[in-house]
Amino acid sequence: MAWPQPINTMKHQYKLLLRAALGAIALVLGSSVAAAATLTISCGSVGPDFEFCKKAAQTWSKQTGNEVKLFNAPQSSTDTLGLIRQMLSAKSAEVDVFAVDVVWPGVLADDLVDLKPYSKGAEARHFSAIVANNTVDGKLLAMPWFADAGLLYFRKDLLDKYGLKPPTTWAELSEQAKQVQDGERAAGNKGMQGFVFQGKAYEGLGCNALEWINSYNGGSVVEPDGKISINNPGALAALTMAHSWIGTIAPQGVLNYGEEDARAVFQKGEAVFMRNWPYAWGLSQAKDSVIADKVGIAPLPAGSAEGHPAATLGGWSLAVSKYSKNPALAAAFVMYLTSSEVQKDRSINGSYNPTLTDLYKDPEVLIKNPFYRRLYKVFTNAVPRPATATGARYPEVSNAFWHAVHDVLSGKKDAKPSLAELEGKLKQIRRGETWQ
Ligand code: GLC
Repeated sequence: MAWPQPINTMKHQYKLLLRAALGAIALVLGSSVAAAATLTISCGSVGPDFEFCKKAAQTWSKQTGNEVKLFNAPQSSTDTLGLIRQMLSAKSAEVDVFAVDVVWPGVLADDLVDLKPYSKGAEARHFSAIVANNTVDGKLLAMPWFADAGLLYFRKDLLDKYGLKPPTTWAELSEQAKQVQDGERAAGNKGMQGFVFQGKAYEGLGCNALEWINSYNGGSVVEPDGKISINNPGALAALTMAHSWIGTIAPQGVLNYGEEDARAVFQKGEAVFMRNWPYAWGLSQAKDSVIADKVGIAPLPAGSAEGHPAATLGGWSLAVSKYSKNPALAAAFVMYLTSSEVQKDRSINGSYNPTLTDLYKDPEVLIKNPFYRRLYKVFTNAVPRPATATGARYPEVSNAFWHAVHDVLSGKKDAKPSLAELEGKLKQIRRGETWQ
Protein backbone atom coordinates (compact mmCIF):
# COMPACT_ATOMS: atom_id res chain seq x y z
CA MET A 1 0.00 0.00 0.00
CA ALA A 2 1.52 3.34 -1.01
CA TRP A 3 1.80 6.36 1.26
CA PRO A 4 0.58 9.00 1.45
CA GLN A 5 -2.71 8.62 -0.32
CA PRO A 6 -5.11 11.30 -1.46
CA ILE A 7 -7.87 11.58 1.08
CA ASN A 8 -10.69 10.76 -1.36
CA THR A 9 -9.02 7.55 -2.44
CA MET A 10 -8.49 6.76 1.20
CA LYS A 11 -12.16 7.21 2.00
CA HIS A 12 -13.20 5.10 -0.94
CA GLN A 13 -10.70 2.41 -0.12
CA TYR A 14 -11.71 2.59 3.50
CA LYS A 15 -15.31 1.85 2.61
CA LEU A 16 -14.31 -1.10 0.46
CA LEU A 17 -11.87 -2.44 2.98
CA LEU A 18 -14.22 -1.98 5.88
CA ARG A 19 -16.95 -3.79 4.02
CA ALA A 20 -14.57 -6.64 3.22
CA ALA A 21 -13.20 -6.68 6.73
CA LEU A 22 -16.57 -6.71 8.41
CA GLY A 23 -17.50 -9.57 6.16
CA ALA A 24 -14.38 -11.22 7.44
CA ILE A 25 -15.17 -10.84 11.13
CA ALA A 26 -14.84 -14.49 11.52
CA LEU A 27 -16.10 -15.29 14.91
CA VAL A 28 -18.34 -14.20 17.65
CA LEU A 29 -17.18 -15.55 20.94
CA GLY A 30 -19.04 -15.75 24.22
CA SER A 31 -22.37 -17.06 25.28
CA SER A 32 -25.62 -16.49 23.46
CA VAL A 33 -27.08 -15.21 26.73
CA ALA A 34 -27.37 -11.42 26.60
CA ALA A 35 -23.78 -10.33 27.13
CA ALA A 36 -22.74 -7.23 29.01
CA ALA A 37 -21.00 -5.70 26.02
CA THR A 38 -19.42 -6.60 22.71
CA LEU A 39 -15.81 -5.79 21.87
CA THR A 40 -14.02 -6.29 18.58
CA ILE A 41 -10.33 -7.03 18.45
CA SER A 42 -7.98 -7.01 15.48
CA CYS A 43 -5.16 -9.47 16.15
CA GLY A 44 -2.62 -10.79 13.69
CA SER A 45 -3.05 -13.59 11.21
CA VAL A 46 0.50 -14.86 10.68
CA GLY A 47 0.96 -18.52 11.63
CA PRO A 48 -1.18 -19.39 14.65
CA ASP A 49 -1.83 -15.71 15.63
CA PHE A 50 -5.56 -15.90 15.08
CA GLU A 51 -6.06 -19.17 16.94
CA PHE A 52 -4.16 -17.98 20.00
CA CYS A 53 -6.07 -14.73 20.02
CA LYS A 54 -9.35 -16.61 19.76
CA LYS A 55 -8.43 -18.93 22.62
CA ALA A 56 -7.57 -16.11 25.04
CA ALA A 57 -10.58 -14.05 23.98
CA GLN A 58 -12.81 -17.06 24.59
CA THR A 59 -11.46 -17.48 28.13
CA TRP A 60 -11.96 -13.79 28.89
CA SER A 61 -15.46 -13.95 27.41
CA LYS A 62 -16.37 -16.84 29.70
CA GLN A 63 -14.87 -15.12 32.73
CA THR A 64 -16.57 -11.76 32.19
CA GLY A 65 -19.72 -12.53 30.23
CA ASN A 66 -18.75 -10.05 27.52
CA GLU A 67 -18.78 -10.93 23.87
CA VAL A 68 -15.68 -10.67 21.66
CA LYS A 69 -15.60 -10.47 17.89
CA LEU A 70 -12.39 -11.20 16.04
CA PHE A 71 -11.46 -9.02 13.13
CA ASN A 72 -9.41 -10.84 10.53
CA ALA A 73 -6.41 -8.59 9.81
CA PRO A 74 -4.23 -9.10 6.72
CA GLN A 75 -0.98 -11.07 7.12
CA SER A 76 1.26 -8.22 6.01
CA SER A 77 1.98 -5.65 8.69
CA THR A 78 2.07 -3.00 5.95
CA ASP A 79 -1.44 -3.85 4.75
CA THR A 80 -2.75 -4.00 8.31
CA LEU A 81 -1.39 -0.55 9.08
CA GLY A 82 -3.07 0.80 5.95
CA LEU A 83 -6.39 -0.67 7.01
CA ILE A 84 -6.12 0.51 10.62
CA ARG A 85 -5.12 4.04 9.60
CA GLN A 86 -8.10 4.26 7.32
CA MET A 87 -10.47 3.09 10.05
CA LEU A 88 -9.00 5.45 12.61
CA SER A 89 -8.97 8.43 10.27
CA ALA A 90 -12.69 7.80 9.72
CA LYS A 91 -13.09 7.63 13.55
CA SER A 92 -14.70 4.24 13.14
CA ALA A 93 -15.87 2.51 16.33
CA GLU A 94 -15.91 -0.90 14.65
CA VAL A 95 -12.72 -2.16 16.26
CA ASP A 96 -12.04 -1.54 19.97
CA VAL A 97 -8.68 -3.23 20.41
CA PHE A 98 -5.83 -3.33 17.91
CA ALA A 99 -2.65 -5.36 17.88
CA VAL A 100 -0.07 -2.71 17.01
CA ASP A 101 3.34 -3.36 15.54
CA VAL A 102 6.34 -2.04 17.48
CA VAL A 103 6.88 0.60 14.77
CA TRP A 104 3.40 2.09 14.95
CA PRO A 105 2.91 3.95 18.26
CA GLY A 106 4.36 7.19 16.83
CA VAL A 107 2.16 6.85 13.76
CA LEU A 108 -1.13 6.13 15.55
CA ALA A 109 -0.48 8.24 18.66
CA ASP A 110 -3.43 10.61 18.17
CA ASP A 111 -5.98 7.83 17.89
CA LEU A 112 -5.11 5.59 20.84
CA VAL A 113 -6.27 5.68 24.46
CA ASP A 114 -3.73 6.31 27.25
CA LEU A 115 -3.70 3.00 29.14
CA LYS A 116 -1.92 4.33 32.24
CA PRO A 117 -5.15 4.90 34.18
CA TYR A 118 -6.03 1.23 33.61
CA SER A 119 -2.71 -0.56 33.90
CA LYS A 120 -2.16 -0.14 37.66
CA GLY A 121 1.58 -0.04 36.98
CA ALA A 122 1.63 -3.49 35.31
CA GLU A 123 3.91 -2.09 32.59
CA ALA A 124 6.79 -2.10 35.09
CA ARG A 125 6.99 -5.89 34.72
CA HIS A 126 7.52 -5.73 30.93
CA PHE A 127 10.72 -5.02 29.00
CA SER A 128 11.35 -1.36 29.67
CA ALA A 129 12.53 -0.68 26.09
CA ILE A 130 9.15 -1.78 24.73
CA VAL A 131 7.26 0.25 27.32
CA ALA A 132 9.39 3.28 26.38
CA ASN A 133 8.69 2.58 22.71
CA ASN A 134 4.94 2.54 23.44
CA THR A 135 5.00 5.73 25.49
CA VAL A 136 4.45 8.91 23.50
CA ASP A 137 4.26 12.29 25.26
CA GLY A 138 3.93 10.52 28.60
CA LYS A 139 0.99 8.41 27.45
CA LEU A 140 1.14 4.62 27.49
CA LEU A 141 -0.45 3.93 24.13
CA ALA A 142 -0.15 0.16 24.09
CA MET A 143 0.60 -2.74 26.44
CA PRO A 144 3.43 -5.04 25.30
CA TRP A 145 2.12 -8.40 24.10
CA PHE A 146 5.01 -10.30 22.52
CA ALA A 147 8.53 -9.50 21.41
CA ASP A 148 10.17 -10.48 18.14
CA ALA A 149 13.73 -10.59 16.88
CA GLY A 150 15.04 -12.02 13.62
CA LEU A 151 16.56 -15.50 14.00
CA LEU A 152 18.46 -17.91 11.78
CA TYR A 153 16.76 -21.28 11.54
CA PHE A 154 18.87 -24.08 10.15
CA ARG A 155 18.59 -27.78 9.42
CA LYS A 156 20.79 -29.41 12.06
CA ASP A 157 20.62 -32.79 10.34
CA LEU A 158 21.79 -31.39 7.00
CA LEU A 159 24.63 -29.32 8.45
CA ASP A 160 25.77 -32.45 10.35
CA LYS A 161 25.57 -34.53 7.19
CA TYR A 162 27.91 -32.11 5.40
CA GLY A 163 30.17 -31.63 8.43
CA LEU A 164 29.24 -27.95 8.83
CA LYS A 165 28.74 -25.70 11.86
CA PRO A 166 26.10 -22.93 11.85
CA PRO A 167 27.53 -20.00 9.86
CA THR A 168 28.80 -16.90 11.63
CA THR A 169 29.14 -14.63 8.57
CA TRP A 170 26.83 -14.12 5.62
CA ALA A 171 29.61 -15.26 3.27
CA GLU A 172 29.80 -18.52 5.19
CA LEU A 173 26.02 -18.88 5.06
CA SER A 174 26.07 -18.34 1.30
CA GLU A 175 28.73 -21.03 0.80
CA GLN A 176 27.06 -23.56 3.06
CA ALA A 177 23.65 -22.93 1.55
CA LYS A 178 25.05 -23.55 -1.93
CA GLN A 179 26.96 -26.67 -0.90
CA VAL A 180 24.04 -28.33 0.87
CA GLN A 181 21.48 -27.22 -1.70
CA ASP A 182 23.56 -28.61 -4.56
CA GLY A 183 24.38 -31.81 -2.67
CA GLU A 184 20.74 -32.46 -1.81
CA ARG A 185 19.53 -31.67 -5.30
CA ALA A 186 22.09 -34.08 -6.74
CA ALA A 187 20.86 -36.70 -4.26
CA GLY A 188 17.33 -36.37 -5.65
CA ASN A 189 15.75 -33.63 -3.53
CA LYS A 190 15.20 -31.36 -6.51
CA GLY A 191 13.18 -28.76 -4.59
CA MET A 192 15.88 -28.02 -1.99
CA GLN A 193 16.63 -24.32 -1.45
CA GLY A 194 19.64 -22.86 0.32
CA PHE A 195 18.08 -19.87 2.07
CA VAL A 196 14.57 -18.47 2.39
CA PHE A 197 13.61 -15.15 3.95
CA GLN A 198 11.09 -12.32 3.60
CA GLY A 199 11.83 -10.70 0.23
CA LYS A 200 8.46 -9.23 -0.73
CA ALA A 201 8.18 -5.43 -0.96
CA TYR A 202 6.71 -4.80 2.51
CA GLU A 203 7.72 -4.11 6.11
CA GLY A 204 9.15 -7.62 6.52
CA LEU A 205 11.76 -7.02 3.80
CA GLY A 206 12.72 -3.82 5.61
CA CYS A 207 13.33 -5.93 8.73
CA ASN A 208 15.54 -8.41 6.84
CA ALA A 209 17.46 -5.66 5.04
CA LEU A 210 18.11 -3.76 8.27
CA GLU A 211 19.69 -6.94 9.64
CA TRP A 212 21.98 -7.35 6.62
CA ILE A 213 22.97 -3.68 6.63
CA ASN A 214 23.45 -3.34 10.36
CA SER A 215 25.52 -6.53 10.45
CA TYR A 216 27.96 -4.84 8.02
CA ASN A 217 28.21 -1.85 10.38
CA GLY A 218 25.97 0.00 7.94
CA GLY A 219 23.76 1.64 10.59
CA SER A 220 19.97 1.67 10.73
CA VAL A 221 18.85 3.74 7.69
CA VAL A 222 18.08 6.80 9.83
CA GLU A 223 20.03 7.08 13.08
CA PRO A 224 18.47 7.87 16.48
CA ASP A 225 19.65 11.51 16.12
CA GLY A 226 17.72 11.79 12.84
CA LYS A 227 20.73 11.59 10.52
CA ILE A 228 20.09 9.78 7.23
CA SER A 229 22.86 7.20 7.09
CA ILE A 230 21.74 4.71 4.45
CA ASN A 231 24.16 5.65 1.66
CA ASN A 232 27.28 3.99 3.08
CA PRO A 233 29.75 1.21 2.18
CA GLY A 234 28.29 -1.29 4.69
CA ALA A 235 24.82 -0.94 3.15
CA LEU A 236 26.34 -1.32 -0.31
CA ALA A 237 28.16 -4.52 0.67
CA ALA A 238 25.01 -5.89 2.32
CA LEU A 239 22.68 -5.28 -0.62
CA THR A 240 25.23 -6.50 -3.14
CA MET A 241 25.47 -9.74 -1.21
CA ALA A 242 21.69 -10.13 -0.86
CA HIS A 243 21.25 -9.58 -4.60
CA SER A 244 23.72 -12.40 -5.26
CA TRP A 245 21.43 -14.87 -3.44
CA ILE A 246 18.47 -14.47 -5.77
CA GLY A 247 18.29 -17.39 -8.16
CA THR A 248 21.38 -19.00 -6.61
CA ILE A 249 20.71 -20.01 -3.01
CA ALA A 250 17.25 -18.42 -2.80
CA PRO A 251 14.48 -19.11 -5.28
CA GLN A 252 13.36 -16.25 -7.55
CA GLY A 253 10.02 -16.52 -5.76
CA VAL A 254 11.56 -15.22 -2.53
CA LEU A 255 10.98 -11.75 -3.99
CA ASN A 256 7.36 -12.37 -3.16
CA TYR A 257 7.73 -14.13 0.20
CA GLY A 258 6.28 -12.97 3.49
CA GLU A 259 6.90 -14.79 6.80
CA GLU A 260 4.51 -17.63 6.07
CA ASP A 261 5.77 -18.18 2.50
CA ALA A 262 9.31 -18.65 3.77
CA ARG A 263 8.08 -20.89 6.57
CA ALA A 264 6.03 -23.05 4.21
CA VAL A 265 9.20 -23.97 2.28
CA PHE A 266 11.26 -24.61 5.42
CA GLN A 267 8.43 -26.45 7.14
CA LYS A 268 8.12 -28.97 4.33
CA GLY A 269 11.84 -29.71 4.60
CA GLU A 270 12.92 -27.86 1.47
CA ALA A 271 15.27 -25.20 2.79
CA VAL A 272 18.60 -25.41 4.57
CA PHE A 273 18.36 -21.95 6.20
CA MET A 274 15.47 -19.66 6.98
CA ARG A 275 15.29 -16.19 8.49
CA ASN A 276 12.16 -15.81 10.57
CA TRP A 277 10.70 -14.68 13.91
CA PRO A 278 10.39 -16.89 17.03
CA TYR A 279 6.82 -18.08 16.25
CA ALA A 280 8.25 -20.39 13.57
CA TRP A 281 9.96 -22.47 16.28
CA GLY A 282 6.71 -23.67 17.85
CA LEU A 283 5.32 -24.70 14.47
CA SER A 284 8.54 -26.47 13.47
CA GLN A 285 8.23 -28.61 16.61
CA ALA A 286 4.56 -29.55 16.16
CA LYS A 287 3.62 -33.24 16.30
CA ASP A 288 2.92 -33.46 12.59
CA SER A 289 6.02 -31.47 11.58
CA VAL A 290 8.38 -33.32 9.23
CA ILE A 291 11.29 -31.21 10.51
CA ALA A 292 10.66 -31.58 14.26
CA ASP A 293 14.01 -32.47 15.93
CA LYS A 294 15.93 -31.43 12.81
CA VAL A 295 15.90 -27.69 13.44
CA GLY A 296 18.45 -25.47 15.13
CA ILE A 297 18.34 -21.74 15.87
CA ALA A 298 21.31 -19.39 15.85
CA PRO A 299 21.86 -15.65 15.80
CA LEU A 300 21.81 -14.26 12.27
CA PRO A 301 25.32 -14.06 10.77
CA ALA A 302 27.62 -11.04 10.93
CA GLY A 303 28.39 -9.08 7.78
CA SER A 304 32.09 -9.81 7.99
CA ALA A 305 34.76 -10.44 10.59
CA GLU A 306 34.56 -6.73 11.49
CA GLY A 307 30.77 -6.75 11.54
CA HIS A 308 28.39 -8.22 14.11
CA PRO A 309 25.20 -10.29 14.15
CA ALA A 310 22.13 -8.07 14.06
CA ALA A 311 18.50 -8.97 14.69
CA THR A 312 15.72 -6.51 13.94
CA LEU A 313 13.51 -5.75 16.91
CA GLY A 314 9.91 -6.64 16.17
CA GLY A 315 6.89 -7.44 18.25
CA TRP A 316 3.33 -6.46 18.93
CA SER A 317 1.43 -4.64 21.65
CA LEU A 318 -2.26 -4.13 22.27
CA ALA A 319 -3.92 -0.74 22.07
CA VAL A 320 -7.42 0.67 22.55
CA SER A 321 -8.97 2.87 19.88
CA LYS A 322 -10.02 6.36 20.96
CA TYR A 323 -13.24 5.77 19.06
CA SER A 324 -14.19 2.66 21.04
CA LYS A 325 -17.59 2.90 22.70
CA ASN A 326 -16.23 0.88 25.65
CA PRO A 327 -12.70 2.10 26.34
CA ALA A 328 -12.56 0.98 29.98
CA LEU A 329 -13.76 -2.53 29.16
CA ALA A 330 -11.43 -2.68 26.15
CA ALA A 331 -8.53 -1.67 28.41
CA ALA A 332 -9.47 -4.42 30.89
CA PHE A 333 -9.45 -6.91 28.01
CA VAL A 334 -6.00 -5.67 26.95
CA MET A 335 -4.71 -6.09 30.50
CA TYR A 336 -5.93 -9.68 30.49
CA LEU A 337 -4.42 -10.49 27.08
CA THR A 338 -1.03 -9.11 28.10
CA SER A 339 -1.08 -10.82 31.51
CA SER A 340 1.36 -13.47 32.64
CA GLU A 341 -1.29 -16.18 32.27
CA VAL A 342 -1.85 -15.47 28.57
CA GLN A 343 1.77 -14.68 27.70
CA LYS A 344 2.88 -17.92 29.34
CA ASP A 345 0.40 -19.98 27.37
CA ARG A 346 1.36 -18.27 24.11
CA SER A 347 5.02 -18.88 24.83
CA ILE A 348 4.72 -22.52 25.84
CA ASN A 349 2.33 -23.49 23.09
CA GLY A 350 3.24 -21.01 20.35
CA SER A 351 6.83 -19.85 21.10
CA TYR A 352 5.76 -16.22 21.18
CA ASN A 353 8.43 -14.39 23.15
CA PRO A 354 6.98 -12.90 26.31
CA THR A 355 7.45 -9.23 27.10
CA LEU A 356 7.19 -9.99 30.83
CA THR A 357 10.78 -10.39 32.01
CA ASP A 358 9.92 -12.93 34.74
CA LEU A 359 8.69 -15.46 32.21
CA TYR A 360 12.27 -15.84 30.94
CA LYS A 361 13.03 -17.55 34.27
CA ASP A 362 9.98 -19.81 34.16
CA PRO A 363 11.07 -23.49 33.80
CA GLU A 364 8.00 -24.50 31.79
CA VAL A 365 8.62 -21.69 29.35
CA LEU A 366 12.32 -22.46 29.05
CA ILE A 367 11.82 -26.16 28.46
CA LYS A 368 9.68 -25.50 25.41
CA ASN A 369 11.90 -22.67 24.18
CA PRO A 370 15.47 -23.65 24.98
CA PHE A 371 16.78 -20.88 22.74
CA TYR A 372 15.42 -18.17 25.08
CA ARG A 373 18.27 -18.68 27.51
CA ARG A 374 20.96 -19.07 24.85
CA LEU A 375 19.77 -16.19 22.70
CA TYR A 376 18.60 -13.84 25.44
CA LYS A 377 21.21 -11.32 24.29
CA VAL A 378 19.87 -11.43 20.74
CA PHE A 379 16.50 -10.35 22.10
CA THR A 380 17.78 -7.67 24.42
CA ASN A 381 20.23 -6.24 21.85
CA ALA A 382 17.85 -6.31 18.90
CA VAL A 383 18.17 -3.37 16.51
CA PRO A 384 15.21 -1.00 16.41
CA ARG A 385 13.90 0.31 13.12
CA PRO A 386 14.07 4.11 12.79
CA ALA A 387 10.49 4.58 13.99
CA THR A 388 11.20 6.78 17.00
CA ALA A 389 13.55 9.06 15.03
CA THR A 390 11.11 9.52 12.14
CA GLY A 391 7.83 9.58 14.11
CA ALA A 392 4.71 9.92 11.99
CA ARG A 393 6.83 9.73 8.81
CA TYR A 394 8.04 6.23 9.57
CA PRO A 395 5.66 4.54 7.10
CA GLU A 396 6.97 6.72 4.26
CA VAL A 397 10.57 6.12 5.30
CA SER A 398 10.08 2.41 5.58
CA ASN A 399 8.20 2.24 2.30
CA ALA A 400 11.02 4.04 0.47
CA PHE A 401 13.56 1.73 2.10
CA TRP A 402 12.01 -1.60 1.22
CA HIS A 403 11.17 -0.45 -2.31
CA ALA A 404 14.81 0.48 -2.87
CA VAL A 405 15.95 -2.86 -1.46
CA HIS A 406 13.45 -4.78 -3.56
CA ASP A 407 14.65 -3.00 -6.72
CA VAL A 408 18.19 -4.16 -5.95
CA LEU A 409 17.20 -7.74 -5.12
CA SER A 410 15.15 -8.07 -8.29
CA GLY A 411 17.96 -6.65 -10.42
CA LYS A 412 15.91 -3.64 -11.47
CA LYS A 413 18.60 -1.32 -10.10
CA ASP A 414 22.20 -1.59 -9.00
CA ALA A 415 22.86 -1.20 -5.29
CA LYS A 416 24.97 1.94 -5.56
CA PRO A 417 22.56 4.20 -7.48
CA SER A 418 19.64 2.76 -5.56
CA LEU A 419 21.17 3.75 -2.21
CA ALA A 420 22.00 7.26 -3.49
CA GLU A 421 18.44 7.64 -4.76
CA LEU A 422 17.04 6.37 -1.47
CA GLU A 423 19.12 8.91 0.43
CA GLY A 424 17.63 11.66 -1.76
CA LYS A 425 14.11 10.33 -1.23
CA LEU A 426 14.55 10.21 2.55
CA LYS A 427 15.75 13.83 2.51
CA GLN A 428 12.61 14.74 0.61
CA ILE A 429 10.44 12.92 3.12
CA ARG A 430 12.20 14.74 5.97
CA ARG A 431 11.89 18.03 4.13
CA GLY A 432 13.66 20.25 6.68
CA GLU A 433 16.51 19.51 9.04
CA THR A 434 14.42 17.53 11.50
CA TRP A 435 11.84 14.78 11.23
CA GLN A 436 9.18 15.95 13.65
C1 GLC B 1 6.69 -9.34 12.70
C2 GLC B 1 7.28 -8.36 13.67
C3 GLC B 1 6.91 -6.95 13.29
C4 GLC B 1 7.32 -6.69 11.85
C5 GLC B 1 6.69 -7.70 10.94
C6 GLC B 1 7.18 -7.51 9.51
O1 GLC B 1 5.32 -9.40 12.84
O2 GLC B 1 6.87 -8.61 14.98
O3 GLC B 1 7.51 -6.03 14.16
O4 GLC B 1 6.99 -5.39 11.46
O5 GLC B 1 7.01 -9.00 11.36
O6 GLC B 1 6.65 -8.43 8.66
